[in-house]
Amino acid sequence: MSNKLLIKNIKSLVQVREPEVLKVSGQDMKTLPCIENAWLAIDNGLIADFGSMSDFPGILDWKDLEVIDADGKIVLPCYADSHTHIVYAGNREGEFVDRINGLTYEEIFARGGGILNSAKRLHEATEDELFEQAMLRLREMISQGTGSVEIKSGYGLSVDSELKMLRVIKRIKDLNILPVKASFLGAHALPHNYKNDKQGYIQLIINEMLPIIAKEKLADYIDVFCEQNYFTPEETKLILEAGKKLGLIPKVHAEQMSHFGGIKVGVECNAISVDHLEYCNDEDIALLKQSETMPTVLPGAAFFLSLPLPPARKMIDAGLAVAFASDYNPGSSPSGNMNFMMSLGCVQYKLTPEEVINACTLNSAYAMHLSHEVGSIALGKKANFFITKPISSYAFIPYAFGSQLIESVYLSGIKQ
Ligand code: NIG
Ligand code: FE
Repeated sequence: MSNKLLIKNIKSLVQVREPEVLKVSGQDMKTLPCIENAWLAIDNGLIADFGSMSDFPGILDWKDLEVIDADGKIVLPCYADSHTHIVYAGNREGEFVDRINGLTYEEIFARGGGILNSAKRLHEATEDELFEQAMLRLREMISQGTGSVEIKSGYGLSVDSELKMLRVIKRIKDLNILPVKASFLGAHALPHNYKNDKQGYIQLIINEMLPIIAKEKLADYIDVFCEQNYFTPEETKLILEAGKKLGLIPKVHAEQMSHFGGIKVGVECNAISVDHLEYCNDEDIALLKQSETMPTVLPGAAFFLSLPLPPARKMIDAGLAVAFASDYNPGSSPSGNMNFMMSLGCVQYKLTPEEVINACTLNSAYAMHLSHEVGSIALGKKANFFITKPISSYAFIPYAFGSQLIESVYLSGIKQ
């Protein structure tokens, strides 16, 4: 089926790049190339051409062509959400209320809640139930502008349940609605039954889980929660290296609750990204500058848990690229709304609208090896984009926090 689409009279076509620009760093993040009063042509799910209405060549072939008038509206590439945990069973609003009443995230975990609460519920859920719940979350994310996603395991914490999660992620990937990357996060927490045998659980990850996951090609990445009371930097390294040997690329949950060494290990293991970074210090920034690792800030988690803010401003001023992702999960960020992440980026982190849009599109696509395919308006890239309601400028999106400003979302040129 050839699906040909022409969008004309676009008030502003945002994030227009050469296809070979795969990320933007430092001062360059302040620039967001746009074409005002633009047109965009889609053919067979890909971006075929675009330009200014003043040079519009006219329509030569009307056959099978759908024309959309976007007068007063803005077109952006879809957000790339490079860090989510959307496969989970039920919610944890009870723990949310516990935190309002004074308990900390760490105290809730120490009582057997938190990740272990979700692990218990996930164990009891069927693959079909998990798939349906995850799809509801994904559909909402798409309606909010997300057009590519990374999804982690990590609420299984046993061979069977980790595989169950990864199979759900594979089912979502195989729907081919949008690009999906899978991360194996067996080292998310120590399960109850290994409470007194951490080494045993690490061996289970390395010797039992990883070989099956690699053989069945169930994951692209291997991730570890490197944190006090979870996994040490040494354990993180061991697990990441074991994954690497089987072809998985490292990612790390790093420096979220304390400065613990996750960034250093991530950089040493050539991680594609290190994520969270609340306690990232100047030495870490220097390490990141020598690497290809994408520092990824998760504004929803820092907001929801009232954590100190990751030094995103300082990182960009030091010349680093920064990506944003939602961290959508039931405990620390029950939202996958990247528009809200951008508002947080502007208000709390003092990033400009240009910087947050770069962080949520091209740089976050880079953080899951997808920036050759999505994350900007570029010739030959996937036609994953959204059209806003009539708005005054792209800065209105982070400004009008909480508003739903997206009118329609297209994935591979197909309206969702
Ligand atoms: O990215 N930090 C570790 N893991 C998740 C939270 C998991 C949970 O609370 O369920 C995160 O914030
Ligand atoms: Fe996470």
